[in-house]
Amino acid sequence: MRYAIISDIHGNLEALLAVLGDCGKKEIDRYICLGDIVGYGANPAECVKQIIDLDALCVVGNHDHAAIGLTDISFFNPYAKAAVEWTASKLSKKHKSFLSHLPFIITLEDITLVHSTLDGPERWRYILNDFDAEVNLKLFDNLICFIGHSHVPCMFQEQYNSKALFDFLNEMTIQQKTIINVGSVGQPRDGDPRASYVIYDSELRLVTFERIEYDIATAQKKIVKSGLPKILATRLQLGK
Ligand SMILES: [Fe+2]
Repeated sequence: MRYAIISDIHGNLEALLAVLGDCGKKEIDRYICLGDIVGYGANPAECVKQIIDLDALCVVGNHDHAAIGLTDISFFNPYAKAAVEWTASKLSKKHKSFLSHLPFIITLEDITLVHSTLDGPERWRYILNDFDAEVNLKLFDNLICFIGHSHVPCMFQEQYNSKALFDFLNEMTIQQKTIINVGSVGQPRDGDPRASYVIYDSELRLVTFERIEYDIATAQKKIVKSGLPKILATRLQLGK
């Protein structure tokens, strides 16, 4: 099976459509979404519809939970809070019902899927370094755990320093237990504003990191026009 694994779309329809256009050229058998379909961007409902139409296997993210009132947003920063409230007002009952039924963790073939971490996914913690990864590498039995949440594509293995690992890849055959962050479609934060996603070929055990240009200016204009905080538009072109 060839999987396209996308995450952290955050209501950015321009980025999502650009990624799906690229997937259309790459013989994808199944789509996987690692959560945070909504929040920050101007097209939350349209992005949820795309994920439903793709019949994507999908786990829930913290912004999905927040948009349906399942996450306490009193600790969110002011612009994230404003985005959550705006997003909730744009989602239909059908979309909210879809988000409310998404699981925290899915396991299939040789992969595990989770938005944040395996040790209490509802706590929405991050795997940012080898120390965080060490705990989580012990919590799955199959080959790869795909994650999102930090918006920074990277990977972790028991025997290797994560920085060293990431320096040489954009394509890699996986031979030992690995945690892979697929980055963000709609709000990358690694300094590269292009949409990020991963293709996984389970027969070859081959992971490919992809970066895709999209119409950032249109996504920005929509954010500003909708009254969402301007910083959400500015950061798209910075990739931060
Ligand atoms: Fe996110």
